[in-house]
Amino acid sequence: MKKIQISPSILSADFSQLRNEIKRLEEGGADMIHVDVMDGHFVPNLTMGPPIIKSLRKFTKLPFDVHLMISPVHKYIKDYADAGADIITIHPEATENLAVSIDHIKSLGKKVGVSLNPESKINLITDLLNQIDLVLIMSVNPGFGGQKFMPEVLEKIKELKKIRDQKNIDFDIEIDGGINFDNNKLAIEAGANILVSGTTIFKNNNGDIKKNIDLLKSS
Ligand code: DX5
Ligand code: ZN
Repeated sequence: MKKIQISPSILSADFSQLRNEIKRLEEGGADMIHVDVMDGHFVPNLTMGPPIIKSLRKFTKLPFDVHLMISPVHKYIKDYADAGADIITIHPEATENLAVSIDHIKSLGKKVGVSLNPESKINLITDLLNQIDLVLIMSVNPGFGGQKFMPEVLEKIKELKKIRDQKNIDFDIEIDGGINFDNNKLAIEAGANILVSGTTIFKNNNGDIKKNIDLLKSS
């Protein structure tokens, strides 16, 4: 079984303190930093872009797990690579040619993630799975932190895991949205090995990040 990793979303952090918040995540045992990039077009919310990622890059060695909820995404990929992203995750619906965008991310020396919304089917990516480092399964409709977990996406994770075993290929399965201390076990049992979490990590137990990360990892 793959090691369980936690990718805290800084969408729930105190934006006026991002540098310190990242330090707290690092000290609390985060495995990477999830950065939610939203454009007010692909999703109905606006967050942050390359300059913020670039300005934070020097303050941590943790990988930046950059989730691009922007459309059209292709022409902006290089900006995120240059800013210091380590994993660049895109949505199939946000690019004219998914295979070309995947190649572009790889050519920049970055890990490739592809994200499936709750409504999006696995067959959008089946033929490309051997090119992908990570599949990000959305367990809420993207756009906002603090939404309710949609358990029906667990089936998709089980199916992905099955395909991975059958085809004998290797990619991570990450889950994003509404993860808490009740459903973390379900996600891990289904086959997810990277859990994204914003609200649970920053708001539970009076913001005790270490405790919350430890609790999310234990299943
Ligand atoms: C939603 C984002 C998620 C979200 C996670 O569009 O992709 O990363 O912020 O936050 P919680 O854990 O609060 O659902
Ligand atoms: Zn995300």
